[in-house]
Amino acid sequence: MRALPPDLPDGPVLVPCCGTFPELDLLTERLPGREIIGIDLSAGMTALARRRAAGNPLVRVVEGDASALDVTAAAVVSVFGLQQLPEPDAALRSWAGALRPGGLLSVVYWPHSLEPGGPFTVLSDVLRGHVPARDRSWEDRLVAALEDAVLERDEPLSFPMVHPDADTFFTAHTRSGPMRPLADARGEAFIAVLREEFLRRAPEGEWRHRPSARHIVARA
Ligand SMILES: C[S@@+](CC[C@H](N)C(=O)[O-])C[C@H]1O[C@@H](n2cnc3c(N)ncnc32)[C@H](O)[C@@H]1O
Repeated sequence: MRALPPDLPDGPVLVPCCGTFPELDLLTERLPGREIIGIDLSAGMTALARRRAAGNPLVRVVEGDASALDVTAAAVVSVFGLQQLPEPDAALRSWAGALRPGGLLSVVYWPHSLEPGGPFTVLSDVLRGHVPARDRSWEDRLVAALEDAVLERDEPLSFPMVHPDADTFFTAHTRSGPMRPLADARGEAFIAVLREEFLRRAPEGEWRHRPSARHIVARA
């Protein structure tokens, strides 16, 4: 959020993949008087986001696919959603294309984990025995997808994370996290097999780690 300067063009700030909209408080604080529009595919998430936005007439939450934006914006801010989209590089092209002249794009997403021994890596190793790896070649195409926007920043951001234990991490990841669609598609017996393998490879007790996200900032 430190990338959001005051000198933005007119227009709304779009927040694709807003989830419950944790970005909202900082955005309203940094950009008073600005229209802010959150977009998320999930009805449950948008309901929670609307609850957070209640009482602020400048905020709207739209339930829908944020892969392609059909409005123009002063800024597009997205946190930890890009990697969930079917074609992230195409989405980034659309987000950059939505910017008005002088507008700003700020996107943070989870790249392929480079954290040996961390829970994301362990889980991905376990998954590899059962599910083909997702194509990650889109990560190399993100900068090109910005097209005419000028890249201002492309850097890792590292966050400390603490999970009470490996089982809690696995449950959150498969019930309310990015593996929920796989769990729904393959059923409980399959998830139980994954859980057992994951727990066998995981450390006992509290699990602390420091994964690295990627932050891309570009100006139209
Ligand atoms: C990891 S959450 C991040 C939410 C929020 N930005 C945060 O930082 O907590 C990713 C969000 O992307 C949403 N999402 C996934 N695919 C989407 C799509 N095609 N269009 C809009 N939202 C999508 C999910 O519903 C989920 O709420």
